[in-house]
Amino acid sequence: MLKEGIKVVDENRQGEALAPPSAIKSSSERKVYIESYGCQMNFADSEVVASILSQDGFGTTKELAEADLVLLNTCSIRDKAEQTIRKRLSNFNTIKKNKPEMIIGVLGCMAERLKSQLIDQEKLVDLVVGPDAYRDLPNLVNEVDNGQKAVNVILSKEETYGDIVPKRTNENGVTAFVSITRGCDNMCTFCVVPFTRGRERSRDPESVYNEAKQLFESGYREVTLLGQNVDSYLWYGGGLKKEFKNLSEEEKAKSVNFAQLLEKVAQISPLLRVRFSTSHPQDLTDDVLHVIAKYHHVCSYIHLPVQSGSSRILKLMNRGYTKEWYKERIDAINRIIPGCAISTDIIVGFCTETEDDHQETLEMMRYVKYGLGYMFKYSERPNTVAQRKFKDDVPEDTKQRRLEEIIRLHRENAAFRNSEMVGKTFEVLIEGVSKKSDQELFGRTPQNAVAVFPKENHKIGTYVNVLIEDCTTGTLLGKVVN
Ligand code: 5AD
Ligand code: SF4
Repeated sequence: MLKEGIKVVDENRQGEALAPPSAIKSSSERKVYIESYGCQMNFADSEVVASILSQDGFGTTKELAEADLVLLNTCSIRDKAEQTIRKRLSNFNTIKKNKPEMIIGVLGCMAERLKSQLIDQEKLVDLVVGPDAYRDLPNLVNEVDNGQKAVNVILSKEETYGDIVPKRTNENGVTAFVSITRGCDNMCTFCVVPFTRGRERSRDPESVYNEAKQLFESGYREVTLLGQNVDSYLWYGGGLKKEFKNLSEEEKAKSVNFAQLLEKVAQISPLLRVRFSTSHPQDLTDDVLHVIAKYHHVCSYIHLPVQSGSSRILKLMNRGYTKEWYKERIDAINRIIPGCAISTDIIVGFCTETEDDHQETLEMMRYVKYGLGYMFKYSERPNTVAQRKFKDDVPEDTKQRRLEEIIRLHRENAAFRNSEMVGKTFEVLIEGVSKKSDQELFGRTPQNAVAVFPKENHKIGTYVNVLIEDCTTGTLLGKVVN
């Protein structure tokens, strides 16, 4: 069961810590400052929020000191993520002591998880807005202006913000995110996301296509299609998740799945690179792999989180696949898209994980040899199935040791993958000037590896062929060749 949110406006707090109405500037002069944490979805959502607020007269600023409204778009995935946010909120509250008219708000997953607790018990914020309630932001800010604290954490079965053109805050002007689904119905037992982001919904393919096309026409050269599980994308006239086999004949006739959506976006232009994230091993189809193989500008890179290499642990995690199934998907990727890069997420120390289970995870890493990976210690999250039904019984020092072991192996694998690229030439889309030297540019290969090379006369937003001559742990070093 998903939790339904409630909209609460706390009448008891009228006027608390707020400037008198005369000090409230008209909204045309006001500026919002947004900080985003967590997954790419949050960064994409912040651009939707900036767009909604700009229609209400808010400009955006990158300077906290200039901000009238400070928003933190938050992550709840691990306890550590929430602690980081709490520290940041305390900093903001220190600033607010000298600037009481500044409104502090929390968006995203932590807003949804903690609801009015952030106002009532922790007294950290004026505004709490869940991921499906961003259209209500102008009203909620208005309520705060009128001396109330405001909360809207209602989850929706329809909201996809499909009609809102995000206000792009990534200023490279080359790469952009486009959301294609919201929410998640997978119910992995460790994960808080189904509770914080609600039911899975797919966005109308027309609006996805139009947004990507508009980006291309305004100079962007790469879009990343985003969803918690892009492979389960399915539009049938409506977007709330359904299995294809359960659609009516009429719905089947107008249905668009992820492979079809990916191909539609790929057809915008061969100059528009297409990426996507995140794929789910249970749902990744050969059709998607064939689309990647067919279009050279659909990038050969798949983020396919394994989480664990032990089928017993995968079952406890409710991942819906075994280690044999995962390996078969890896074999299919290598067969259909030779040279495709694969990255992963891994959790160590999930409930009951034994030394043998851990060895199976290491074995999986040796099998795939991931070039990129994100590795975590299991962090118990309130209300998840794991928290309610299993014991978080792997001792902290064991979790730590296992994490160090997988990180060590991952470094070896990543170095191997990087060294494989030395001596080869890759097409690189130039994204910007290197942080280390203004005489160098950087961009990414289709396999998502960062390459740095001399600037010469090359322009950001164009494609160059780069011969890779050397590599460091995370970066390829090369020169542009014809
Ligand atoms: N503890 C640790 N890691 C987690 N992840 C999700 N939930 C948890 C948790 N409770 C990891 C998974 C997921 C990634 C985004 O975060 O590996 O793929
Ligand atoms: Fe964090 Fe997950 Fe929410 Fe993204 S969806 S912000 S990863 S909890």
